[in-house]
Amino acid sequence: AIVHLIAAARPNFMKVAPLWHALTAAQDFEPVLIHTGQHYDANMSDDIFEDLGLPRPNHHMGVGSGTHAEQTGSVMIAYEKIAMEQRPDWLIVVGDVNSTAACAMVGAKLHIPVVHLEAGLRSGDREMPEEINRLVTDVLSNVMWTPSPDGDENLAAEGIPASRVSRVGNIMLDSLERIRPKLDAENSAGTFGLTPGRYGIITMHRPSNVDEKEKFTKICGELAKAAKHLPLIFPMHPRTRGRMEEFGLETTLTDAGIQIVPPQSYLPFMSLMKDSQLVITDSGGLQEETTYLGIPCLTLRDNTERPITIEQGTNRLITPDTLLDELETAIAADAPAPRKPEFWDGRTASRCVDDLRARTKA
Ligand code: UD1
Repeated sequence: AIVHLIAAARPNFMKVAPLWHALTAAQDFEPVLIHTGQHYDANMSDDIFEDLGLPRPNHHMGVGSGTHAEQTGSVMIAYEKIAMEQRPDWLIVVGDVNSTAACAMVGAKLHIPVVHLEAGLRSGDREMPEEINRLVTDVLSNVMWTPSPDGDENLAAEGIPASRVSRVGNIMLDSLERIRPKLDAENSAGTFGLTPGRYGIITMHRPSNVDEKEKFTKICGELAKAAKHLPLIFPMHPRTRGRMEEFGLETTLTDAGIQIVPPQSYLPFMSLMKDSQLVITDSGGLQEETTYLGIPCLTLRDNTERPITIEQGTNRLITPDTLLDELETAIAADAPAPRKPEFWDGRTASRCVDDLRARTKA
């Protein structure tokens, strides 16, 4: 069976890679890797492909950046051509980026069965573009692969029959397990002059945090205060860098000693995370990876589509006003133990392939 696998943006790649490897190893599937080009910088895309052992994509659509409608529309137009030329037996889309929803829409209209990997997550916050993408993608998908029981419950509450839902676990941790043996040798902490266990990492790129001058200025001010408590390194997303420069906030961070570095590829970033004392973020994936590795995570958001990382893991939702208190509490406490919710075990891709095989035969 021919399987189209859509990769688009940085957080997709670590979800697509294990599945591509598992489908390639299986005799009965032929994966076709399609990159929409939503992320295009080397450190946001090609370097990560290499770290994950992914080959060059079979198709590269090169859509690039734009408004939401421009990006979504460009992906739909480009993917429709590919899908009409080679009608796949399955289309697999992952995560919640614009390309995910765009390709799901194309597949659904061409009557190509769509599978959504990382289905059922809900923040309940429709001001978040990713929430719109999650809703649209799930409603159009024939099969929904969920990472955790809350995903199953959300889909059931939306009236989706259980027969279309399979809980497969968290596939990102398959990628993490695959590179784990290389993390010590990578020694990113050393590269940046940091002492393992004695620094924090910041990542931030959500429109809700960085697009408004007042909010982003407040956050940078609190981060500068936080830097008095422990060394902080900030691998900075291009969206964030753009806003920081526009709002003139660079010196607020650097005068406080915060190291601003370019976005890191997967291997160096995971090495940096593994040795960190704490993470401050607004990312989705980092909430899960820190839980898995047992690193306190302070999430600068009002809500999360990944509640299991709070209930069973090391994650806490914070605001700019509570950042400093939460940070002091976290660094004073003993390091938490790594937590592994059910099926967060590095074997999600093989469960996906088994499920796809059963559904192909059915
Ligand atoms: C996207 C996803 C988000 C994900 C994030 C991870 C959507 C709606 N959002 O947000 O869910 O968490 O990726 O990174 O799909 N840019 C570059 N180089 C690149 C890619 C982007 O410079 O390789 C710049 C763009 O020009 C733009 C900004 O970064 O100015 C935003 O890129 P975009 O892909 O539109 O959204 P993200 O904010 O990255």
